[in-house]
Amino acid sequence: MSITRISIGMPEAFTPRRFAPPSAAEISEGKQDLLPGLEVRVNERGLRLRFPMEWSTGIYGFGLQMRGFQWRARKLSLRPNMDPPANSGDSHAPVPFFVTTKGYGIYFDTLRHITVYCGKERLDNGDALPQKDGKLSSTDTKELYAPRAGGSHFYMTVEIPIAKGVDLYYISGERILDIVMQYNMLSGGGCLPPLWGLGCQYRCYKNFDAQQALNLAKKLRCDHIPFDMFGLEPGWQDQSYSCSYHWSEERFPHPEQTLREFAKLGYRVSLWEHAFVHPSSALYRPLLPYAGEYTVWFGLVPDFSMPQAEQIYADFHREQFVKNGVAAFKLDECDDSDFCGGWSFPDCADFPGGMDGEQYHSMFGTLYAKTILRALGEKKTFSLVRNLGALAASYPFALYSDLYDHEYYIMATVNSGFSGLLWSPEVRDANNAYYLRRRVQTAVFSAFTLVNAWYLEQTPWDEFDCMEQVRELFRLRMALIPYLYEAYHAYHTTGKPPVRALVCDFEEEEQAREQWDEYLFGDAMLVAPITDENKERDVYLPRGEWIGFFDGKRYPGGVHHVITDEIPVFVKAGSLIPLADAVEPIEEQTRFAVMLHAFGDCRNSVCRLADDDADGTVFCIDSVARGRFGKRYEIVGLKQH
Ligand code: GAL
Repeated sequence: MSITRISIGMPEAFTPRRFAPPSAAEISEGKQDLLPGLEVRVNERGLRLRFPMEWSTGIYGFGLQMRGFQWRARKLSLRPNMDPPANSGDSHAPVPFFVTTKGYGIYFDTLRHITVYCGKERLDNGDALPQKDGKLSSTDTKELYAPRAGGSHFYMTVEIPIAKGVDLYYISGERILDIVMQYNMLSGGGCLPPLWGLGCQYRCYKNFDAQQALNLAKKLRCDHIPFDMFGLEPGWQDQSYSCSYHWSEERFPHPEQTLREFAKLGYRVSLWEHAFVHPSSALYRPLLPYAGEYTVWFGLVPDFSMPQAEQIYADFHREQFVKNGVAAFKLDECDDSDFCGGWSFPDCADFPGGMDGEQYHSMFGTLYAKTILRALGEKKTFSLVRNLGALAASYPFALYSDLYDHEYYIMATVNSGFSGLLWSPEVRDANNAYYLRRRVQTAVFSAFTLVNAWYLEQTPWDEFDCMEQVRELFRLRMALIPYLYEAYHAYHTTGKPPVRALVCDFEEEEQAREQWDEYLFGDAMLVAPITDENKERDVYLPRGEWIGFFDGKRYPGGVHHVITDEIPVFVKAGSLIPLADAVEPIEEQTRFAVMLHAFGDCRNSVCRLADDDADGTVFCIDSVARGRFGKRYEIVGLKQH
């Protein structure tokens, strides 16, 4: 396993590396010949890189892709776009990093919107076609097409516009998972959210006033639906498009008191905003010298690459919100929308810090998130953001979307794990109770559980009278927190994504390479959501034995199964899963009563639990016995499945 930087030509001054947290992995310097056959061309178009690629190479990654999974033979243009119209590379969070099934991955340290031709184009002249006396000897399409997929004449071509050079990070590793883990360590390892961040978040109707929001918050407590975070949508501000960052005097006349009441009910409050600063905002004048030349919704676009802008914005947020108890933010609209008739600034815009609009689009969400983390200081958060770029694994932010296709959401779940991103398949409305349940199931087995009812005056379950069913699902999420926290701890210390595609761990299995609609949830669980009205689905289980999480049924691995379970979730035989009594809400002194669930023969297994000591340092304990463990856990028993 190694990371080698190959510096080509004259890399640009602004790249993700310049702003990223320090690497926690060793990086050595290497020469171009590390990538056999690499050809470099620089001309007025920018930089072109081309290297041979075997046809059998599986290619994954490129950020939060929602419309595809395996990239061989595809062209992708990596542009931030909130509404990707097709499987073209457009994404809320594109990342110029891919991994292959050939023991390597490459990260291109650039903010340009690169175009990648993934190993389809060839340079040979057709010698491989069936010929006789210099003429094509066949008119049979099958015969003519056969050589398309053979030989070694395939190339990956990467075009980086404008740039005259780039640093490549060539990451080698035995498995895809090793490569992804190293990529995450390149920016300091994955984030470790606070325990409460792994609970559930409810975001209420955008026009609710303080009383209406608090009434709903109380009702959720009375109904014992365990939400830890409560989100306020645009209406908390007096100006929201663009933003004033000022409480609406009409709807939230006593914000400090309102925040205290939320705290009393055990909620962490998350505020919606975007970074376009309204002329009426107290931030407008101070930020004026540090903003781009174009406005969005009449608001300034601060240049967060400038320390001055970062500080002004962060100080304001700390004083106004964090000090009064706000624990999280939802950073909206920082992706690009000009492709779909919305807002934005042009790629050719100038920013005072030195980037152009194209570069700033690629960095906007990440720098915005970094600024908000500065406002939060020592306070831990798990927040939301709608754009992130490269090297952002250590930021405790999950991505979300306005799109709502359930299958796209699963694809985003599976793809995000390749590129240091976390995805929230949020629940909004549904056509009926059945579909609502399906949505909640997916949200419960995800990196970030969110109900975003920003346009619904009543909860989605009140509409269909199915509160009991969804309550059980949210309680299941709470039961999974110790298991999930340990998975996040591993993300933090080793870079291993808590939610990831099957191919990460089982790439030697041909079938696992194709599975875009199943994923690993932590090390031991496999989730295969059902998204349509069919109450069954095909599930591929990798080699080894698997056990139904809910019914203890045994399944041989290495084959497909038709599953009719309410939620298809499987546990790798030999795993000890800690399940807690659901708590509501999670607080400083919360202790979890944990039952260890042994799936199959666990005589040689341990259950790892992440805990924190008095200084808040998180460490791991291995447990198989009953009793108290660390500050947080009481192991109450062992149940065999
Ligand atoms: C959208 C966002 C939604 C909601 C809405 C409020 O941009 O994706 O989740 O916050 O704004 O106006």
